[in-house]
Amino acid sequence: MEKTLVILKPCTLQRGLIGEVISRFEKKGLKLAGIKMTWLTDKVLNEHYAHLSDKPFFQRLKNAMSIIPVIVCCWEGIDAVRVVRAMTGATNGRNAAPGTIRGDYSMSSQENIVHASDSPENAAIELARFFKDGELFDYTWLQTACVYANDEC
Ligand code: TYD
Repeated sequence: MEKTLVILKPCTLQRGLIGEVISRFEKKGLKLAGIKMTWLTDKVLNEHYAHLSDKPFFQRLKNAMSIIPVIVCCWEGIDAVRVVRAMTGATNGRNAAPGTIRGDYSMSSQENIVHASDSPENAAIELARFFKDGELFDYTWLQTACVYANDEC
């Protein structure tokens, strides 16, 4: 099964939306493989947002992502990267479709509730960045038989 990284951003913790957002992934039928609270460092943010380092909002974004801790989690499922990105919605919450997480909870391009990996390759890199050995769990999840047909997995 595919794994993807989700970061519940500082705005989500401040607004008391951690449970609601996690609940959406659970209700969708994704399996939680790891979760922890962590305070992001400048070094990690420089790596994580390297593709945005030339943008005028880069420093502002890093400040916002390190103002208080975040929750990082790993969700697992068939096509998990694509499914979670679709649930996340467009970057700017004002443009994100209603029904998506950003569309329902965000009015901002920065304070947009979650980060979600954008490809399986980046998911593998990002999961290795945020989780150490032993922090992702492989366990028997009883819901698998209800979430998928038996020839799907
Ligand atoms: P990006 O990787 O382009 O989008 P996404 O999170 O949808 O994969 O941007 C990373 C983060 O940078 C984004 O979640 C919030 C921030 N950001 C801004 O603050 N302003 C902007 O104009 C953009 C494009 C992104």
